Amino acid sequence: MRRVLIKNIGQLLRISHHENVRGNINGVMNDISILNDAAIIFSDRFEWIGHSTDIPSDIHVDDVIDVAGKVILPGFVDSHTHCVFAGDRSDEFARRLRGVSYTQIASEGGGILKTVSSVRNASIEELAQRGIELAKEALNHGTTTLEMKSGYGLSLESEIALLKAIDIVRREVPIRIISTFMGAHDFPPEYAHDRSAYIELLINEMLPAIHELGIAEFCDVFTDTGYFTVEDSIRILESAASLGFKLKVHADELTPFGAAEMAGSMHAVSADHLLFCSQEGMQAMKQAGTVATLLPGTAYTLKLPYASARAMIDKGLIIALASDCNPGSCYTPNMQMILSLACMNMGMSIEESLTAATLHGAYALCREQECGSIELHKSADFIVLDTYSYPDIVYHFGVNHVEQTWAMGKRVK
Ligand code: NIG
Ligand code: FE
Repeated sequence: MRRVLIKNIGQLLRISHHENVRGNINGVMNDISILNDAAIIFSDRFEWIGHSTDIPSDIHVDDVIDVAGKVILPGFVDSHTHCVFAGDRSDEFARRLRGVSYTQIASEGGGILKTVSSVRNASIEELAQRGIELAKEALNHGTTTLEMKSGYGLSLESEIALLKAIDIVRREVPIRIISTFMGAHDFPPEYAHDRSAYIELLINEMLPAIHELGIAEFCDVFTDTGYFTVEDSIRILESAASLGFKLKVHADELTPFGAAEMAGSMHAVSADHLLFCSQEGMQAMKQAGTVATLLPGTAYTLKLPYASARAMIDKGLIIALASDCNPGSCYTPNMQMILSLACMNMGMSIEESLTAATLHGAYALCREQECGSIELHKSADFIVLDTYSYPDIVYHFGVNHVEQTWAMGKRVK
């Protein structure tokens, strides 16, 4: 692999990874470890990081790139998306803007179930194609690690098709892709009148089969009014954990439901959404070290109140930001947009939002030793912005500031 030197970096935002500190202890989310007039040497991993004046002469490099004073930061880690699906729900979006609620549309058989019916009629190649397009958009906007969930199949066969499609995306798009099984995203129409039978299917057939195929690392459950109860979620997550899946929860997205409390008690890696999370839920997550993944694009699109990011940060929780890119509640894979929403509508500072969208996203995927910050021996995943001053990424909003994306040491944009 070629060894590259990038020099003349005006601001290198390393994002600090404090050993043994998880979460916002003593305000560490604001510490993005800026190095001015910096340089980096890397192959697939960072091999040297320092000032331009100290570049070692004894390390052989194959290429030298001068970025003329621009900004470099870690690539975004988007730890929550539903980017593999089929069909079109723009009609529902238009209806919602005329005042019809997300819950109303879902109760008419639209929403997630509309996408389920499109997915069941699509081939794996068609599913992969949509995922590839969205992953390329993500990469173009600076994402170098991207989680993708199944959950629009809701039968063993269709859930496997979605996860296989994610595998194709992984082969086709040169960024890190992480898969999550989310068969518990909703109840399929054929089980509408026998929900407990679907839960048995999930536990007795789907989870073991997905585990056997080795095509998903995490298991996620939608715990909310009208979807999976806390008790059902515990059963599903316990079975998943016993097979070795890591756990995630769609928690308290639509109503206060006690889902964050449950996620904490199950030691889930992350609880996501949290628009209606209670104080007790925050406490449970804090105690368990469960990452609070906030998805402000969803509150924006559904016109719901934003999650209480300030209260969570001030309590010292680990806050990650992710896109939730999906056809229903947030149709963007652009993490720069998510930073903007987090700063403007959730009271986060620019520095907190950058930490949440990089290192803390890596925590939410158990990849904090691998990516999310610019440190020796971590994967060389970073982006070059077209600016000399990092606040521009939020201040000068609505434009794509990513000039170059590098993933695992290769230039991919
Ligand atoms: O994260 N909450 C559940 N799933 C998605 C929405 C899915 C859809 O509407 O298609 C979400 O918001
Ligand atoms: Fe989601």
